[in-house]
Amino acid sequence: MRIAIASDHAALEMKAALAAWLTEQGHEVNDLGPHDGTSVDYPDYGYKLASTVAGGAAERGVALCGTGLGISMAVNRNPDCRCAVVSEQLSAYFSRDHNDANVIAMGARMIGIEQAKACLATFLSTPFGGDRHVRRVDKLSNPPFVKEPV
Ligand code: RB5
Repeated sequence: MRIAIASDHAALEMKAALAAWLTEQGHEVNDLGPHDGTSVDYPDYGYKLASTVAGGAAERGVALCGTGLGISMAVNRNPDCRCAVVSEQLSAYFSRDHNDANVIAMGARMIGIEQAKACLATFLSTPFGGDRHVRRVDKLSNPPFVKEPV
């Protein structure tokens, strides 16, 4: 699978570990940065990741920051991204089965690397349930309150 991954400075180490782990499994990993420990702003990397997934260059995205919260908020500003913040496998499972999440967010200050791998493995191996969930997921791409560009 083509997987894009991005973080902020707080999750640099987790990003490197997950990118290496995904590559070992045969995935094509696009590391969107950052590439050193300089303090950065998570929206910049969340937007970059969102554009990559929404544009089709990656089938799935992995978004990491200290809590997973800030970067998930950035990714979800893109109406074609469905990003779920996850810290256990059941949420990872339902984010795919019910919500067809295309991006997973996790917090490097919240969970350890083994838990992150377990969540990511579930996220990548669980198909979308389809059926009644399709209509609901489609509505996420068409929110009624998006501002007209000025
Ligand atoms: C950075 O200190 C921290 O605020 C960020 O990684 C993230 O947790 C924000 O949601």
